[in-house]
Amino acid sequence: MKLPFAESYKIKAVEQIHRSTREERIRWIEEAKYNLFNLRSEQVFIDLLTDSGTGAMSDKQWAALMTGDESYAGSSSYYKLKDAIEDITGFPYYLPTHQGRAAENVLFSAMIKKGDVVPGNSHFDTTKGHIEFRGAHAIDCTIDEAFHTELEHPFKGNVDLDKLETVLKKYPKGQIPLIMVTITCNSSGGQPVSIENMRAVKKLADQYGIPVFFDSARFAENAYFIKMREPAYKHKPIREIVREMFACADGMTMSSKKDAIVNMGGFIGFRDKALYEKASTFNIMFEGFINYGGMSGRDMNALAQGLYEGTEFDYLETRIAQVAYLGKQLRDYGIPVQYPFGGHAIFIDAKRFLPGLPKEQFVAQTLGVELFIEGGVRGVEIGTLLADRDPDTRENRYPQLELLRLAIPRRVYTNNHMDYVAASVINVFDRRNKITKGLKILKEAPILRHFTVELARI
Ligand code: F0G
Repeated sequence: MKLPFAESYKIKAVEQIHRSTREERIRWIEEAKYNLFNLRSEQVFIDLLTDSGTGAMSDKQWAALMTGDESYAGSSSYYKLKDAIEDITGFPYYLPTHQGRAAENVLFSAMIKKGDVVPGNSHFDTTKGHIEFRGAHAIDCTIDEAFHTELEHPFKGNVDLDKLETVLKKYPKGQIPLIMVTITCNSSGGQPVSIENMRAVKKLADQYGIPVFFDSARFAENAYFIKMREPAYKHKPIREIVREMFACADGMTMSSKKDAIVNMGGFIGFRDKALYEKASTFNIMFEGFINYGGMSGRDMNALAQGLYEGTEFDYLETRIAQVAYLGKQLRDYGIPVQYPFGGHAIFIDAKRFLPGLPKEQFVAQTLGVELFIEGGVRGVEIGTLLADRDPDTRENRYPQLELLRLAIPRRVYTNNHMDYVAASVINVFDRRNKITKGLKILKEAPILRHFTVELARI
């Protein structure tokens, strides 16, 4: 008998989670103003809001915490992390930051000015926020295939080279400080970018003299997909693929809360010493001295260990198989999801799930509310609320994809939990024709509104 697949870890500590009744959940979500971010975590049974900072650290990571060096300057933990980053990514210079958006803040302070444009594949919301906050514009050059959820394509995170070149031709070099490629591309459904595409982007960028940076939050998952889907890489170890990926970039921002499996942390990797030095000043202003930048020594130790664990093949296989396990159940039932399945989450195509709801009524958010009421499962809207308003016209932006993301924390839930989630989604799907009204905004912030928005049922 062929031995079945099984997780590449066993469980050493557990945390209790709580069931609730439908009546409780109806009350809680109303009190939360129909914003899933406003729920208390005890009100949630299975929390798929994000895979960011929600992973379970290993025994070796917990052990590494104990040997953290909390010296302000010259901490051995800083150097341990430096060695790990250089070993895994190849970048010789780095700045620690407290999380990914802090890395964006520091890097963009050194690189972006008003009126600039930053092309790439679909920028993550904080990346776009940090670009727009500086009076610059993020330009999405993702391939069109990414926006058709049923269309099969192995690398839906790829940059469309023609779209990119159009931008590079349209704007003078001085107005394009960098190209940002997000690996995997969260906003298009956790979709990977191929090595072939990374190389082509770098080649084009070099022709125009523009540096390429990777938003690398889920770089290891991207490497796993390259191994599985790009024939030349089938037999290469993950870490070798990772090095080849980063060879196509001049630098990287990292939210370590994802593929480095820590609860908090980030960094920027650089090849260019002069840029590293320029950014160091901003790091000191915003984050802390360059030897810790928003992280304690113990956190840097756990992060260094996490970079190695996150790039192990067996771990990645376990992780991505679990995401696909959930995805397959939904897809087999006929529920429209982004396909192929992403690395960190299943993205439900809310427009096709609830075709009768007008886009002005926040379709994916409405679906998220219904799923919470159904089973106490919390997802997150990746749609009109997240897309926010156009910074110039202040009109709502309606993105091509209106998604409800079910992000799976790393090493946290079992496949029984996935079965529960699938059943909850299926129950909502079975009663979808009765969901005829969506939501309206009562109150919103001027930028990154989705975190704090207050909504009401129409
Ligand atoms: N880049 C990507 C691709 C991300 O997904 C995130 C965060 C960030 C940057 C910012 O990193 O949170 O450490 O400041 N994504 C989380 C999510 C919040 O739920 O997808 P951060």
